[in-house]
Order: sequence, then C-alpha cells, then structure tokens
Amino acid sequence: MAKDALVSEKLASKFATEKETPYTRWVRDEGLEIISGHYVANLNTVALKPWPRRGGGAVFINHDASRTSNDCYVCEIPEGGKLAPQRQLFEEMIMILSGRGSTAVWNDAGAKVTFEWGPGALFAIPLNAWHQHFNGSGRETVRYVAVTNCPPVMNLYEDTGFIFDSAYDFKNRFAGEPDYFANKGEQKGLLLETNFVADAVNLPLIEAKERGAGGGHIRFSMAKGSMNSHISQFPVGTYKKCHRHGPGAHVIILSGEGYSLMWPEGEEPKYYEWQVGSMIVPPNMWFHQHFNTGTTPARYLAFKHETVSIRNAQGVPKAWISMRIGGDQIDYADEQPLIRTTFAEALSKHGLTPNMDAAYEAELADLPPKPAA
Ligand SMILES: [Fe+2]
Repeated sequence: MAKDALVSEKLASKFATEKETPYTRWVRDEGLEIISGHYVANLNTVALKPWPRRGGGAVFINHDASRTSNDCYVCEIPEGGKLAPQRQLFEEMIMILSGRGSTAVWNDAGAKVTFEWGPGALFAIPLNAWHQHFNGSGRETVRYVAVTNCPPVMNLYEDTGFIFDSAYDFKNRFAGEPDYFANKGEQKGLLLETNFVADAVNLPLIEAKERGAGGGHIRFSMAKGSMNSHISQFPVGTYKKCHRHGPGAHVIILSGEGYSLMWPEGEEPKYYEWQVGSMIVPPNMWFHQHFNTGTTPARYLAFKHETVSIRNAQGVPKAWISMRIGGDQIDYADEQPLIRTTFAEALSKHGLTPNMDAAYEAELADLPPKPAA
C-alpha cells in the first residue's frame, strides 16, 4: 500500500477550507494554473496561459509541500514583445531557457541598469527593484523559468497593492551600480557571489566528491538574496549519491540525458526519465537519486530557497552527510542492489557500461563505520 498518507474524503473535507491559501488564490485570480506534480517532461514545451499582469504567458510549478516556502514559474515573452514593468516584495532568480533579449532594472532613486542575455543566462531580481524584460527578437519567443519566494510573502500579507506597489528601495540589495549585472563574481568556498552568469550550461564547476562520482558543484548567492540555488554535474556512466531534504527544490536538466529515482522511505523507487528541459521536484523528505545514461556529462540546476536545506549544528546540509552518522545521504556502500542493476540495464540500452568502480572505491576512504545494530 502506497504511503502517500491519503485519507478518506470525510476527513479531507474537514480541512478543505484550509487547503486553499492566499498564494493559491492569487495564482488562480491571475488566471493561471499551478502544476502540483513531481515532474515536468519539458519546460520548453509545457503549456502556458495568458498572464494579463505581465503581458506574456505563464504556468506556475509548485508542489503541495512547498506552498509555504518557494515556487517556480515558466514565462514566455512573445516575438518582439516585452513584459510589463514590475516590482515585488519577494525574491526571484531567473534562467533563460530560449531566446535572446534584455532586462532593465531600476529603483525609485532613478538609477537604471540594462543588461542583455541569451539561453542559459542566470540572474536574480534585487528585492523590490523595478524590472522589465524585453524580447530582443522579432521572430523568436523568449521562454524563461524562475524561482521565487512569493508563497510565504503572499500568505503573510495577502495584499497585492503592498506586495507589488510599495515605494521602498532596498539600497543594500541594489543601489544602481553600473556593473551590477556584469558577468563576474567572487568565489567563496562552494558559493559564487554574483548577480549574473552568462551561460550556466558551460559555467566551470568545483569538485564535490562528497556527493559522489567525480561530481562538479557550484552554489549561488545572487542579488544578496536567499534563493540559494546550485548546479551539479556528473560524468558519463555515473550517478550521484541518494539523498533527501525539505521541499522546494526544482531540478532543471541543463545538459545530458538520464533518469531520477524518487521514493518516500519504505517504498519502492519511482522512475522519472529526463532530457534537457525536464524538471524534477523531489517532495518533502523523499529520497532521490540522479543517473546519467547519456554519452555526455549530465548537468542540472537546482532552483530552491534556503528552507529546502536541513543543516547540522555546523551549518552543513544533512543531504551531504552519511546516514550512518545521522545525515540524509545514502552511501553507495549502503544502497539497494536494485540501484546498480537498474543503472546497468539503462546504460546498456545506449551501448554503455557503468563507470562507478572508482567512486565506490573512493568512498571507502571516508566512510564512517556502520552503527551497531
Ligand atoms: Fe536533492
């Protein structure tokens, strides 16, 4: 029996009035849909509806469990078009899926910065700064995907006049610096402090062996906000270690092909195939694991908010720590045999074999002893 905790209609009806929130009401009043699932096959082709507020088309992606932390939305700007200017009392981080154009960002003090972008560009909107996106082509649409922390803000204030029309410049976030959106940054450990990455698909990464299989990793701090997204990459013939964390991570495939397994504790893994443009949304504390079955490295962007992380007393996300010592990451040595057989079968369909022996071997050097039974 599936452990999805679904109960009778009779019990559910007692909570029906609490299921709706100011956030879900707002999306509905905007005339838009919320995709509540764990998976979107392709963000490039997912169906959109007209969004009168912005002037483009959009769909929100927000699993039930993340309705109090963050959301995602996909938006399209028509050929030769632009979106309406907007300011907002929530943070937003954007990745361009297709098309070319520019964004203007300004504040009430009159400082204005404009920058250009193309596919793979990654940037954040400074809190409450005015901004407007322009499609630079008369022939091609622009499509972007964004992560925001609109849900808690909308649930707290439930007042669109306040959220979208408050005259206050957060000068510590943006003061009109002319090079604010220059393609540069400062690397602090795994964290890249920047406001603009021109090409997230080809951005150099930092080694992160703790997540397994020769992986590369980089974390972002953009526009001094709390949307702490990251990129991970893993080589041909490999897969990452399984882990779990809180809700609100939106995993977008930037390159490669493969699949993910996701499951709540005690259940059989569920299979989700992906390609460039697919999105995986791991539900709250579901185990999940990503597998590269293609002939190139696989790279994804995890769009998320700080509340996704569950950290230990040292500030380390428990998704990086072995379950043998109380973390939320399953070591290769402790995974079910099914993980390896499924992977070998999937690779064989592409004429490939697993390239995991070095990763299994390397793990042994730092593997904590198994706790006593
Ligand atoms: Fe994850």
